[in-house]
Amino acid sequence: MLPQQDRLLVRSLGSASVWTHDASCFNLLEASGYRTQAAVGVWGTTRFGNIQVGFEHPIEQVRLAREMGMFETERFIADCEAAFAADSSHKAIREVVARAMSEPATVLKSLGEPKRAGSQTLFHSDSLTILNVIWAPGMMVMPHNHRMWAVIGIYSGREDNVFWRRIPGEPNRIEAAGAKALCEKDTMPLGSDVIHSVINPIDRLTGAIHIYGGGDFFAAERSEWDSLTLDEHRHDRARTLRMFEQANARYEASLRTLDG
Ligand SMILES: [Fe+2]
Repeated sequence: MLPQQDRLLVRSLGSASVWTHDASCFNLLEASGYRTQAAVGVWGTTRFGNIQVGFEHPIEQVRLAREMGMFETERFIADCEAAFAADSSHKAIREVVARAMSEPATVLKSLGEPKRAGSQTLFHSDSLTILNVIWAPGMMVMPHNHRMWAVIGIYSGREDNVFWRRIPGEPNRIEAAGAKALCEKDTMPLGSDVIHSVINPIDRLTGAIHIYGGGDFFAAERSEWDSLTLDEHRHDRARTLRMFEQANARYEASLRTLDG
C-alpha cells in the first residue's frame, strides 16, 4: 500500500505522463485513469517517497513541481534551464514563469519580501539570465531594448510597460506605440526587437521576475533612449545601477517622512 502522500501525488499529476519502477503503482495509476506502459529513456526522474516517477518532457516535471505546491528558487531556476534546453524560444520558459506567478504568495515566501529597489541575478549564462527585479514606488526606466527575447512575470505589485517603435526616416528616434499594465500574476513575453520603458505606478515596491534568453544579457550591445530627448545612445549599466540607488534614496526618505 502506498503512503498517503504518494497517493495524493499520483492523483495530482493531471495529464502528465508518468511511469514507475514499483509494480504495485500500476494498479493505482490505472484506477486513477492513467494508461500504463513500460517506459524507456525518460528525460529524468524524481523520487518522492517510494514512488519513482519520470517525465518525458521537462514541462511535465514543471507541472509536477507546481502540483506539489513548491516554488523554491533553486527548483524554479532548474525548471527554467530545463525548459530552455527543450525550447530555446521564450515559449517553454513563459509556461514555467506563468505557473510560478499563479501562486505569487509562494514566490514571495521563497524570494523574500522586497525591501529595496534592485536587480538580483538569480542565474546567468551566455544564453539565459534570470533576474529578480524590485522597482521602487514611482520608479521609471527610460526606453531600452534587450536584443534578445524576454519574459516578465509579476509576483508582487504592478509594473506598467510602454512600448516604443523607431520612427521611419528619423534615425535613432522613437515614438510611443502602445502600453500594457502588468499586475500580480501577469506574465508577458517580449520579442527580441522590442523597445520598452517601465514604470512602477504604485506607492509600494513591485517584485518581478525578468528572464532574458538567446544571448548574454550583461554582455549584449544594447541601446537606451534619453528620457528627455528620446535620442538613442548606448546602454550604460552604471547609469542603471545609479538609477536604482537614487530610487532607493527617494523611497527611504519617503519612509522616514511617514515615520516622522
Ligand atoms: Fe527591459
